[in-house]
Amino acid sequence: MAVFVHSFVTGVLALIILCFVPTLEQSDNYIIHMDSSFMPKAFSDHHSWYLATVSSLAQSPSPNVRARASAASTSRLIYSYTHVIQGFSASLSPSELEALKKRPGYVSSLKDLPVKADTTHSTQFLGLNSNAGAWPTSDYGKDIIIGLVDTGVWPESPSFNDDGMTAIPSKWKGECEVGTQFNASMCNRKLIGARFFNKALIAKYPNVTLSMNSTRDTEGHGTHTSTTAAGNYVKGASFFGYAPGTATGVAPRSRVAMYKALWVEGPYSADIIAAIDQAIIDGVDVLSLSFGLNGVPLYEDLIAIATYAAMEKGIFVSTSAGNEGPLLQTLHNGTPWVITVAAGDMDRDFGGTITLGSGVSIAGSTLFPGDPSLGESPVVFADACNHTLLSKISPTNIVVCDDWSDIFSDQVENVQLAKVAGGVFITSSSDLNFFIRSSFPAIFLNPTDGETIKAYIKNSSEPTASIQFRKTLIRSKPAPSVASYSSRGPSPSCPVVLKPDILAPGSMILAGWPQKNPVSVVNSHELFSNFNLLSGTSMSCPHIAGVAALLRGAHPEWSPAAIRSAMMTTSYSTDSTNAPIKDTGSGFEPASPLAMGAGHVNPNKALDPGLIYDVTPQDYVDLMCAMNYTSKQIQIVTRSSSYNCSDSSLDLNYPSFIAFFSSNSLVSPTAQEFFRTVTNVGDGPSTYVVKVTPMEGYKINVEPDKLTFKEKYEKLRYKLTIEGPKQMNQKLMFGSVSWMDNGGKYVVKSPIVATSLSSEALTSRT
Ligand SMILES: *[C@@H]1O[C@H](CO)[C@@H](O)[C@H](O)[C@H]1NC(C)=O
Ligand SMILES: *[C@@H]1O[C@H](CO)[C@@H](O)[C@H](O)[C@H]1NC(C)=O
Ligand SMILES: *[C@@H]1O[C@H](CO)[C@@H](O)[C@H](O)[C@H]1NC(C)=O
Ligand SMILES: *[C@@H]1O[C@H](CO)[C@@H](O)[C@H](O)[C@H]1NC(C)=O
Ligand SMILES: *[C@@H]1O[C@H](CO)[C@@H](O)[C@H](O)[C@H]1NC(C)=O
Ligand SMILES: *[C@@H]1O[C@H](CO)[C@@H](O)[C@H](O)[C@H]1NC(C)=O
Ligand SMILES: *[C@@H]1O[C@H](CO)[C@@H](O)[C@H](O)[C@H]1NC(C)=O
Repeated sequence: MAVFVHSFVTGVLALIILCFVPTLEQSDNYIIHMDSSFMPKAFSDHHSWYLATVSSLAQSPSPNVRARASAASTSRLIYSYTHVIQGFSASLSPSELEALKKRPGYVSSLKDLPVKADTTHSTQFLGLNSNAGAWPTSDYGKDIIIGLVDTGVWPESPSFNDDGMTAIPSKWKGECEVGTQFNASMCNRKLIGARFFNKALIAKYPNVTLSMNSTRDTEGHGTHTSTTAAGNYVKGASFFGYAPGTATGVAPRSRVAMYKALWVEGPYSADIIAAIDQAIIDGVDVLSLSFGLNGVPLYEDLIAIATYAAMEKGIFVSTSAGNEGPLLQTLHNGTPWVITVAAGDMDRDFGGTITLGSGVSIAGSTLFPGDPSLGESPVVFADACNHTLLSKISPTNIVVCDDWSDIFSDQVENVQLAKVAGGVFITSSSDLNFFIRSSFPAIFLNPTDGETIKAYIKNSSEPTASIQFRKTLIRSKPAPSVASYSSRGPSPSCPVVLKPDILAPGSMILAGWPQKNPVSVVNSHELFSNFNLLSGTSMSCPHIAGVAALLRGAHPEWSPAAIRSAMMTTSYSTDSTNAPIKDTGSGFEPASPLAMGAGHVNPNKALDPGLIYDVTPQDYVDLMCAMNYTSKQIQIVTRSSSYNCSDSSLDLNYPSFIAFFSSNSLVSPTAQEFFRTVTNVGDGPSTYVVKVTPMEGYKINVEPDKLTFKEKYEKLRYKLTIEGPKQMNQKLMFGSVSWMDNGGKYVVKSPIVATSLSSEALTSRT
């Protein structure tokens, strides 16, 4: 009887547990930081310790549940990491996570989150050429390996040909991993590594159907970024006749290693840091990461944590600022130990001409990839091009739309749906690049030229027009400028370090593309191409990775911070008309360092910067100490429980300055002091004098104002003081400080920002 009752009760309990387990005990992926000094001696390595820890978690009271859970637990460990963090990722239920928190060595855990991917001519624009400068000096980046964590590669892209490439550097430990439609013979002397990471994605969605279970790129982003950084020469490249020429990456002789972790099905951090971990093991020299995590402090930003390990190993890390501009404080990857890249527009316009029945021709912008011309057709003025009006227009007509309101994107869409012969858009939009690649014949005119066509239509009884496409105009306007979409500083995670760092070409970049991925749809026909034009900080980031490869090739002894410093202090901040670089996102006002960092990269100058601002890993620890991070938070980043906060300082030896002032007059004004140490990397003895560009209402003092170096690699220190007004009325003021050698060879320039924005760093995930 008693036995019966007992089994009845357990039967009911078991039933309840079985029914509720799936909802109550929903598993999720976590990244767990551990302290390996707690690892019992019985374990031979951390991997077996992590595995045993995860297996031991399922000790719940019911034997039934225990049996089910422990059967599954060996596969619940997703990755155990080697370099990037001290710890592992695992799929855990809430009660397993609670149990884990009580285990020896547990430091902290984070739920895995998806990251945000930031969606021929650019090398010429960078001033790179075969006669002198960074290309010949670095041997075109010959033995440098650029690793990218991205959406994969299309190995058949002509940019991955290995013509002229020498043998793979012997230090390389990477692999060409076999997978769906990908085998080891697809790698060569250009594409030397290909691996894919999707265990976290599959743990989260066990039933997911992967579009391609291999390093093969079905999205296109990774093919584009990797060929931007290090694509080989391809003659006769273009996008349907636009941007024609020889396509080449920034470092045409560097090697590409692709780590696919940005899956269309979900780009999870646990997979991404596994990819970075492997890239460190394989021996890459440079990492290019065109994605980021928004709104997290450094110790919760897994990309910041993983790249700290890369930096310690001497790997240069290039990251994208994000595409959330032009508002301030929108950038991601504002991490002190990486370079944060903003995106600029180049000196190139894609265009066409519209020829009116009167014989007058007007040039406009267009990137229509379809037929090269649209024959003479009736043209009508359709004002704001709303549906009502367009529905009355014959499909044989070209319509002219006037962008007098803020519905420009609607106008383009309306005309596309109306299926008329073509569209002429009169607009002053600063984001034209996103519209000109239309799927129907379209041309975009500025308001002045718009008046010409409007007057012609008004004055003519039977107005007609024809359009010719596929024209590329070089040096058409002041360049570069900061692209409106490029995310702005200050860095939410570390405001005391001025971010972004640098500006590089990001708009309408021509680079490799998967042949099977349509680049456009015209009249419901898909169009294909080996090259595509894309815009974003995703595109500017690999440019800087390529420049870093050239600098590493020329100066193998330089630290990542030295390479960053060389790029920043030699960058330029005036455009092709010798005026300050403009910000297309703020009414073409001069761009501030919160938009473009130090300025636009100049690879040939960066080769020989004169002085560098170097930073050691301990300097980054001193910064985190001064940010009042707890010992646990510092330990998460440094992966070591022994760190030293005795030299705590917010004043990192960085080649830029940002000072925070109050907009509240009750807070007494303070002069802010910065100390910097510069290393002489020029040849032999030299003397530098300081020059400061004035900032109205601010007193900037530099002591000493002269630095005399007796020898190469000597270090000298100076102090810069910024004294502000009692109350800062503007949001932002900026200027610069330059050290100039008396031989007239070097100008070592740093931007200075004074701001009344908040200096409070993010302290936890929102
Ligand atoms: C993907 O490929 C790997 C190895 O090539 C294999 O182990 C795994 O089961 C595959 N996953 C899926 C979802 O097809
Ligand atoms: C790899 O794939 C290519 C193209 O499908 C094929 O020609 C080649 O024989 C394959 N190589 C190996 C080693 O399987
Ligand atoms: C996954 O597929 C299995 C078998 O087809 C099914 O029983 C299960 O409910 C699916 N799980 C999810 C989360 O869709
Ligand atoms: C469409 O545009 C015409 C001419 O500009 C205007 O008279 C009409 O009110 C608009 N219709 C709608 C629905 O906005
Ligand atoms: C208007 O038409 C007349 C006669 O065809 C021509 O002389 C004149 O130049 C035209 N004006 C404009 C602004 O096109
Ligand atoms: C850190 O804490 C100290 C002492 O409480 C405080 O004075 C300082 O402003 C804090 N620093 C930051 C960056 O929050
Ligand atoms: C911490 O660093 C300071 C100066 O760099 C040094 O004097 C001190 O001995 C260090 N402390 C420890 C515990 O290593």
